[in-house]
Amino acid sequence: MPTMASSDPDALRDRPIRTFGRTGGRALSPRQQNLLDTQLDRWRLPAPVADGLDPRTLFSGARAVWLEIGFGGGEHLVSQAAVHRETGFIGCEPFVEGVAKALAGIEDNNLTNVRLWPDDARLLLDAFAPASIERAFILFPDPWPKRRQQKRRLVQPDFAAALRRVLVPGGQARFATDVASYADEALLTFLGQGGFEWTAEAADDWRRPPSDHVTTRYETKKLGDCAPVWYDFRCI
Ligand SMILES: C[S@@+](CC[C@H](N)C(=O)[O-])C[C@H]1O[C@@H](n2cnc3c(N)ncnc32)[C@H](O)[C@@H]1O
Repeated sequence: MPTMASSDPDALRDRPIRTFGRTGGRALSPRQQNLLDTQLDRWRLPAPVADGLDPRTLFSGARAVWLEIGFGGGEHLVSQAAVHRETGFIGCEPFVEGVAKALAGIEDNNLTNVRLWPDDARLLLDAFAPASIERAFILFPDPWPKRRQQKRRLVQPDFAAALRRVLVPGGQARFATDVASYADEALLTFLGQGGFEWTAEAADDWRRPPSDHVTTRYETKKLGDCAPVWYDFRCI
């Protein structure tokens, strides 16, 4: 299925296994459609992204770049960007309605420090310069709960390696889920990757939302089979 960033059949054929569900479907409000028509080109990263692009060059005067993968409705992305206006934010989300919501958030909050990638984040990770991202957020990724679907989960060894490559030493990755098997799998994957150190020192460090967490829409649905876990990893 085409995404907003690519409809080239050759490019789509070579893609890794798909980790996201639908990218469209629901009718957009007139405002959402207008934002997509008039604002997306202003804030999106041009596709394809040049190999070796340093994302810090996308923001004038930005000291650091934070990346959110699968921002859904954009609640976390927009809130963090509004609080940290000196930081550059890149949000990845192939779901069209989510992109439209993020554009509304950018407009409502007069943000200039957000760039959007309306496509698979793994394409960006492969293109970005090494050690160029300060923080990454993967919050409540698609759970793919059935055993035969689990190969579609975003957090896999290849993904962890790609993420580690673009994070700066001392940088941070945050993973949250409310699906027990994904929590276990992600922890093993990040720690098995090498280069990631789990920062938790007590159970409350992963059982309670971090103080700077912003509640997401998917999180409030409580669709999983366990209480949410928050894993913060430091890059070593
Ligand atoms: C379950 S939703 C959660 C959204 C949001 N983080 C929240 O907590 O409300 C997961 C989102 O990740 C997106 N996603 C899945 N695979 C992705 C990928 N490879 N690159 C970027 N986004 C992806 C999906 O489109 C979906 O909107």
